[in-house]
Amino acid sequence: MRSLRTGLSLTSLVAGLALLLTAPAAHAADTPLRDLGTAKGKVIGTAVTGSKLTGAYGDIAGAQFSSLTPGNAMKWGSVEPTQGSFNWTEADQIVAFAQAHNQQVRGHTLVWHSQNPSWLTNGSWTSAQLGTLLQNHISTEVGRYKGKLAAWDVVNEPFNEDGTYRSTLWYNGLGADYIANALTWARAADPAAKLYINDYNVEGVNAKSTALYNLVKSLKERGVPIDGVGLQAHLILGQVPSTLQQNIQRFADLGVDVAITELDIRMTLPSDSAELAQQKADYKAVTAACVAVARCVNLTVWGFTDSDSWVESTFPGQGAATPYDANYAPKPAYYGIAEALGGTSTPPPTGACGASYSVGSQWNTGFTGTVTISCSGASLSSWKVTWTYGAGQRITQAWNAGCTQSGAAVTCVNASYNGTVPDGGSVSFGFNASWSGSNPVPTVTLG
Ligand code: G3I
Repeated sequence: MRSLRTGLSLTSLVAGLALLLTAPAAHAADTPLRDLGTAKGKVIGTAVTGSKLTGAYGDIAGAQFSSLTPGNAMKWGSVEPTQGSFNWTEADQIVAFAQAHNQQVRGHTLVWHSQNPSWLTNGSWTSAQLGTLLQNHISTEVGRYKGKLAAWDVVNEPFNEDGTYRSTLWYNGLGADYIANALTWARAADPAAKLYINDYNVEGVNAKSTALYNLVKSLKERGVPIDGVGLQAHLILGQVPSTLQQNIQRFADLGVDVAITELDIRMTLPSDSAELAQQKADYKAVTAACVAVARCVNLTVWGFTDSDSWVESTFPGQGAATPYDANYAPKPAYYGIAEALGGTSTPPPTGACGASYSVGSQWNTGFTGTVTISCSGASLSSWKVTWTYGAGQRITQAWNAGCTQSGAAVTCVNASYNGTVPDGGSVSFGFNASWSGSNPVPTVTLG
């Protein structure tokens, strides 16, 4: 009995040690994005392809996200390729997966100028026929998922860049009120689903987003059911609009929810560490803007892995737009989202050594912190870790490192005896510091 207990504890000790050594290089932040989001009152979503929801793709989709959007499966061309003949297979599969993983589903999309079946786009319809077709489509699809979906992108991409209405099958055949009618029909088919208008290039304050703003305002004044606006956010590296938060806020002030519905941030290929670092900053900025406005309720990425993104086929030479690489390893962008949601783990953003910062015990005026430098596939003979405190914290004492603080900027270098971090190993140092008001975790940089 006694030797059995000893054997078990040795085994678990060895297992625990192995996990500690490999974890920093191998995997994502300690707390999944969906849980970080919950703590901030945000739903964190991804677009998915139903047929891929197994293996690593399914594991990540289920573990990290609290909302799924079918990337293509609920579009008219997917569900009714032949008039009167429906195919719900992939859409049903995604809804079932979401239910099994305690996730919301955002329905996408009911009224769009693209990805419609050819029988619809090639037909010649009177205005009355077109209206009936649209009403039946909405009643059928929304009705099928009644009570199961959190939200619908009812109308997708109704505007031109200058804020005029886009010339489409729907606008040309039915006039601008196709939007109000679609919303009304969707509400009738599922009173519980939140109803959205969704568009791209409406993230900042500009002519197009102002047209959307004016439309939502007038729909609300008319009593048309509209619950939210979707800002797609297909962005270009380094070009997060400076007015993003202000724009989210003005919609919130109109009395509607806001969702970031299709976030991706594309760059010139091949990606390099500077681009990936900029992408992290961009993802963090978008997430922070959503976190800053209570009515920004959902932040969804348009595919979580670079292997499942529309970007490379649409913009030749551009890509790497999502938070995970094509082999399902989290990129710096992943940690940008995590940090903006209050995540505390900062593993290697690039390269094979990295530093992470954690707060140990904390009392009313002070706290103890630990920084761990870990390497996998590389080693160090000396190290320097820097960070900037965001809320006036001050280091009072450090051990196993030499730390100096100038204003908010902290620099810590190795002691004479612990500069070496071997491949697969780690070194930690500790410190005491003062705080008041709040004690946010800073981003630490190894270098
Ligand atoms: O399913 C067929 C497959 O059978 C065929 O072999 C293959 C050959 O090209 O095409 C496959 O269909 C593609 C489909 O995605 C599924 O992968 C279409 O060609 C392709 O055009 C389609 O692209 C989709 C795009 O919308 C169409 O505009 C993207 O996956 C989808 O991510 C994208 O999503 C849109 C949002 O709905 C609205 N906002 C913009 C966003 C990006 O374009």
